[in-house]
Amino acid sequence: MTAQKTALRALAGETLPTPPIWMMRQAGRYLPEYRATRAEAGDFLSLCYNSNLAAEVTLQPIRRYGFDASILFADILLVPQALGADLWFVTGEGPRLSTITTQAGVDALCDPGDIHTHLAPIYETVGILAKELPAETTLIGFAGAPWTVATYMIAGRGTPDQEPAHALKAENRPVFDALIDRITDATIAYLNAQIEAGAEVVKIFDSWAGSLQGADFDAYSIAPMRRIVEGVKAVNPKTPIIAFPRGVGERYKGAHAAIGAECIAVDDGVSAEWVAEHVQPDGCVQGNLKSSHMVTGGDALVSETRRIVDALSKGPHIFNLGHGITPDADPANVQFMIDTVRNG
Ligand code: CP3
Repeated sequence: MTAQKTALRALAGETLPTPPIWMMRQAGRYLPEYRATRAEAGDFLSLCYNSNLAAEVTLQPIRRYGFDASILFADILLVPQALGADLWFVTGEGPRLSTITTQAGVDALCDPGDIHTHLAPIYETVGILAKELPAETTLIGFAGAPWTVATYMIAGRGTPDQEPAHALKAENRPVFDALIDRITDATIAYLNAQIEAGAEVVKIFDSWAGSLQGADFDAYSIAPMRRIVEGVKAVNPKTPIIAFPRGVGERYKGAHAAIGAECIAVDDGVSAEWVAEHVQPDGCVQGNLKSSHMVTGGDALVSETRRIVDALSKGPHIFNLGHGITPDADPANVQFMIDTVRNG
């Protein structure tokens, strides 16, 4: 047991004296070495599909900071692309996709089992990382949750309130359901292939779960994530799963059981004290420092980091931010955060 990696121990429910730490978007534009490798690759998608360079940017923050876990460098929108959607990134704006709003559009997507040829470079990146990562570092694979992925596939871009997806759900429920099902099946196949290639943990990002209200939250955030957990556990029963329904406030309570995940990642919309009382009793939690502290640093960074570590010290906890680190973050502040977590 003691030989096991710290992140895996926390995911197994162990309370550790020091929480393992990693950071969402830890390979990213705030790091000069990332920007250099991305320039070498040409653009973001070319970087994702270049296994050697994707492995390189994944390893950069591990070399610089010695994080306890490493997340595969890829993107949640590679699954829609593998299903047949067009995908491109507009510099300074974000992703663009061909839109799907009709049954014919859903029917034109490929079978979930046929995504692997397109995604083979991602599995190869995982394989390289499984060999190259330090022995103590846990390798995390990931995918987007069906609702979040569907919001991009329906709107063709990121939207502030996910209105196009809500509109399709209201106006043509059968098409909306068919799209959610197709993404769910593809995601199960994708995550199982990542695990086969060497991922030790998988994380499901439901970044837009917060815009689903009432019964829609259960039907379109919780239920598809639960189906993914069951589909992964059917093939890989021992692989721990982290679910991240972002922006759901009090609905974090009960999420472990509802989704069936070993760990619930929480954003910064809930306090660590509340999480300790209402979420951590059900299993490991991950989070939840405001990512703006990586920009502003100083005493507030240190005191907030200490507060979160302290509040969540009586149960299984993986320290992380509440959302991804932003390009304007100062790499020195990341080191301050890590030193504070590890040395108090
Ligand atoms: O966390 C990691 O380091 C792993 C890699 C990773 C990326 N995206 C790399 C990335 C992960 C896990 C993601 C998840 C992702 N991608 C989500 C869910 C998590 C979240 O942030 O809410 C979403 C919604 C996407 C879709 C996406 N990808 C958007 C909206 C954008 C543009 C916004 C931005 O930050 O520019 C991306 C691009 C993206 N994905 C970048 C990175 C490092 C920046 C691309 C660049 O180098 O220009």
